[in-house]
Amino acid sequence: VKGLLISATLIGTAIAANPSLIPWPSRIALGQDRLVIDSGFSVVVDAQDPRLALAVTRFVARLSRQTGIPIQEAFGPISGRVSLTIHCAAPASGYPKLGDDESYQLEVSAAGATLTAPISTGVLRGLETLAQLVEAGPDGFFLPGVTIDDKPRFPWRGLMLDVSRHWMPVPVVERNLDAMAAVKMNVFHWHLSDDQGFRVESKRFPKLQQLGSDGHFYTQAEIRQVIDYARDRGIRVIPEFDIPGHATSWLVGYPQLGSAPGPYQIERNWGIFKPTLDPTRETTYTFLEAFLAEMTALFPDPYFHIGGDEIDETQWKASGRIQAFAKKHGFKTSPDLHSYFNRRIQAILKKHGKIMIGWDEILHDGIEPSAVIQSWRGKDSLAEAAKKGYRGILSSGYYLDHLNTAAFHYQNDPGEDPGGHILGGEACMWTEYVDTETVDSRIWPRAAAVAERLWSPADVRDIAAFHGRLIPVSRSLDWVGVQHRSNYAPMLDRIAGNSEEAAIRTVADAVEPFGIDIRQAARHYSSSTPLNRLVDAARPESESIAELEQLARAGQKPGQNNDQLRATFTLWTLGPEFISQDNYLLAEVASVARDLAEVGAIGLQILDQMKSGNAATENWIIEKKQLLDKLEQPRAEVRLAAVRPVRDLLDGMSRSPGLAVSH
Ligand code: ACM
Repeated sequence: VKGLLISATLIGTAIAANPSLIPWPSRIALGQDRLVIDSGFSVVVDAQDPRLALAVTRFVARLSRQTGIPIQEAFGPISGRVSLTIHCAAPASGYPKLGDDESYQLEVSAAGATLTAPISTGVLRGLETLAQLVEAGPDGFFLPGVTIDDKPRFPWRGLMLDVSRHWMPVPVVERNLDAMAAVKMNVFHWHLSDDQGFRVESKRFPKLQQLGSDGHFYTQAEIRQVIDYARDRGIRVIPEFDIPGHATSWLVGYPQLGSAPGPYQIERNWGIFKPTLDPTRETTYTFLEAFLAEMTALFPDPYFHIGGDEIDETQWKASGRIQAFAKKHGFKTSPDLHSYFNRRIQAILKKHGKIMIGWDEILHDGIEPSAVIQSWRGKDSLAEAAKKGYRGILSSGYYLDHLNTAAFHYQNDPGEDPGGHILGGEACMWTEYVDTETVDSRIWPRAAAVAERLWSPADVRDIAAFHGRLIPVSRSLDWVGVQHRSNYAPMLDRIAGNSEEAAIRTVADAVEPFGIDIRQAARHYSSSTPLNRLVDAARPESESIAELEQLARAGQKPGQNNDQLRATFTLWTLGPEFISQDNYLLAEVASVARDLAEVGAIGLQILDQMKSGNAATENWIIEKKQLLDKLEQPRAEVRLAAVRPVRDLLDGMSRSPGLAVSH
């Protein structure tokens, strides 16, 4: 390969071109030639390692499915012509560890490809790069000539999934592990207990799952299956049992652990609730000692998450006994009591060889310096933790349930501290407003922005280039197994009933769902509220609107052909005609369709005005802007994303010298 090896920043705008890699490698140089993938394509691995063998088999199956070409794979000594050679110096099949070497080198030229890594984790990462490199050309599939020397910026690149608010069975978890692996994420943080459900089988305390889960829990065999599945993909599994708050589900079976007498029932609503473990009774610690002995044996990772967020102090304040205990120990506030609890839990975990992680509320004086702080209430806590000598991971700014844009998450950088206390970050998927059908579309593709931010060098931050790569990667993630794209059409079909599916799709393509803040304010939600409406089907960032925005920005010059914009705006104006209101779900779509029709009509007026060549008056422009502002307000818990390209046209009109404003 002749290409010059240069750092990603030097490539500058070239990053926007192919290849569509996420995360972008730390060093990449494009070559001139290409490696054709034809029926002679073969893969050989020069190492014996079960995890490697499985990974290569998965890669070959994926390549065959994508290209339609049967591909040979072999393990052992290399002989004859080989298309892809994989060298691994020291195969490591064990459970992955924080700080494992994930680096790899990849060389692709017309003569063949070589993937080299110190341990098999690097091979896993390199195979994902290879899979993303596959391109279709006029003469068939090929790998572009390239030299890549890659390694992660941060060792902790996670996804947290809440399986308590909405139950997420094993297949949902596994397909998301596949997608995580595809973008080189390496920590699966499993939020296993909360007020609304206790999701793990305990053999020692079976009433936890028997009374606290509605039957929706993982058996210990299933937990082991998921851990093995993750391990095979180079992903660590961190369990979280959230205590002492967010603990209602524990108390249904074991009310004696509560700070108030009970009885308790599984919580069906969303929010912060009063039930809290009693930090003052020795019996609480006896219970937790036995419970944690069981769970620390089940989960092999040395890191263990104890939650610790959002403690409602009502029960503590109301109990004379708890207040007397606090006074006796000189605790002035509820956080003092929480700190005491954490110190006790940290000691138990330490006895079992585990390192405690908690949400940033656990950052009090007195916990041992080994603790890891997960920053969620604001980025400041990450710096504060580092200053005090604790290691930290960033989740503030990575909350996927808020439905911010990929660009928002992409720009949120954990930063670095000289002491190396910042381990990385985690995207967080809380599941009050998603179920098994919609969870993937709230994680993907936006979590890929977090994946790149945490893997790629800090100076890889061109948002336009990232977007250019995100669209193809998003498509390929659906082939990997997540259903963020594939669940869209059936959900719209179901809403449509007997009406025109195409008209519903036009509306859904033109809107974007709001996140937790707007949804919780809009109506009362509980665990039994169906998540089957337009807001649930619509995806957080509309690709078709993004395309229209590009057209609108390009289409502002006089004489520009705006046929596609005109056709789309016309379609929007026609929507209401084709949407019946014969059921509850459709009535809502029909009302959004009427608003969309207004946006379309304004868009057409702007195009007509532009076409006339006459200048628009300032008042005319202001009036349109005000209408658009109004149409952009939340309705049916969605945003009319369609407003954006129309506003782009209007903005261009007030700027364009060819369409100077007359007064
Ligand atoms: C949290 O979002 N309560 C950690």
